[in-house]
Amino acid sequence: MIDIQLASQACLSKVKLGQSLKTVFPQELEKLGSRNDQATVKNTVYGALRYLGYLEFSLDSLVSKRPHGLVNLLLVSIYLIEYSRAANHAVVNAAVSSAKQMGFGKLAGLVNAVLRNYLRHEFEIKQNAENDDVAKLQHQAWWIKKLRQDHPGQVDDIFSSSLQQPSLALRVNTRSISLEKYVRLLDEQNILWRRPKNNIVADVAVILSQPVPVAKIPGFFEGLISVQDVGAQTTAPQLGLRPGQRVLDACAAPGGKTCHILELEDVFVTAIDKDPKRLIKVEENLTRLSLTAKTLAIDMCDIGAWWDGKHYDRILLDVPCSASGVVRRHPDIKWIRREKDIDSFVQQQRSLLSAAWKVLVKGGKLLYTTCSIFPEENEKQVRWFLNEQSDAKIDTGYAAHNGHLILPNDSHDGFFHALLEKK
Ligand SMILES: C[S@@+](CC[C@H](N)C(=O)[O-])C[C@H]1O[C@@H](n2cnc3c(N)ncnc32)[C@H](O)[C@@H]1O
Repeated sequence: MIDIQLASQACLSKVKLGQSLKTVFPQELEKLGSRNDQATVKNTVYGALRYLGYLEFSLDSLVSKRPHGLVNLLLVSIYLIEYSRAANHAVVNAAVSSAKQMGFGKLAGLVNAVLRNYLRHEFEIKQNAENDDVAKLQHQAWWIKKLRQDHPGQVDDIFSSSLQQPSLALRVNTRSISLEKYVRLLDEQNILWRRPKNNIVADVAVILSQPVPVAKIPGFFEGLISVQDVGAQTTAPQLGLRPGQRVLDACAAPGGKTCHILELEDVFVTAIDKDPKRLIKVEENLTRLSLTAKTLAIDMCDIGAWWDGKHYDRILLDVPCSASGVVRRHPDIKWIRREKDIDSFVQQQRSLLSAAWKVLVKGGKLLYTTCSIFPEENEKQVRWFLNEQSDAKIDTGYAAHNGHLILPNDSHDGFFHALLEKK
């Protein structure tokens, strides 16, 4: 318990300083010996971040001055008391020992008192939290205000979905096995599964009822499946691919959609990502699935440096974004993102859109996609592009709202798509 609380508070401290879990976990988890402990710390940190609004509110209700250096240990401990199956006394005792190990022996009594006070006043704190937006909805105040403005009718569902653990979804590689045959393999291993609800077109998606380590998913190493959210699985089919087309995946890493494109059709794919380390993931995925694409680690906007002058028939532009549609999967995002970041993403997306457009053939199509639910990165961005680019039109299926938004729910993440055609 002590190791769990120490490691979890270390992770939480780093996230609160602005680091993402993608960087924090590799640094902190390798310090723990056992895989079980690593998994417990991951779950604890994910959970604490999901409910951080309430945890911070509780701590402020219990202390007049926050004890410097021990704040995150207290937050993690309140999380474990409130949301885990660990025995309360074990959490409190481990928090006291952790405080001593962290060099705060003199404050060990305070840690004990704060946590025991939480147990005594839990009910009252919960009642008060109902009147505090950040504590109740578990997002920063600006984000809450924004979602209320942007999605007034759906805001409650968005907030409740962000607290859920994401489901584990698989994409069956139908070049290697049919959906029917693959689910039989799951049945043989007693792995419970379901198909996505009918409101979403993901023909080869299977959702597992319980998380299973990737190594234990039948056929993963043999390339029979990939792990990919159901929402993300709707992207590649929207490109309307035909055999022999030249396709550019302009922001490709880690390659989930690159591989899906190649599973769907016999096309020639160039997969670009400016991050060489992330591009290695694309190459690993291609190899695992026995697929072939040309990969380039380069800034896509620097067209002179990589383009051979031959236009593309289809372009997938899966741009970097606020990731506001995937907070249930990455709960650190809702605390580290700043409102001003949206504008930087918008500018970056504009540069990518303008560059990609140059290499699209006349009559060709570019699918613009984000995992954001903020209009600035989605429909407003598309409106800007259509005003800017006189040879661009939006495909009729997307025209009504300048794109198609899938809001996050209990089965999938949030995504936005807009199919643009070069006149
Ligand atoms: C949303 S992710 C792409 C996810 C990917 N399409 C998939 O489905 O696995 C965005 C990617 O864009 C890359 N990126 C950002 N700016 C870029 C640029 N100027 N040129 C190429 N890649 C870029 C980032 O490194 C990141 O990997």
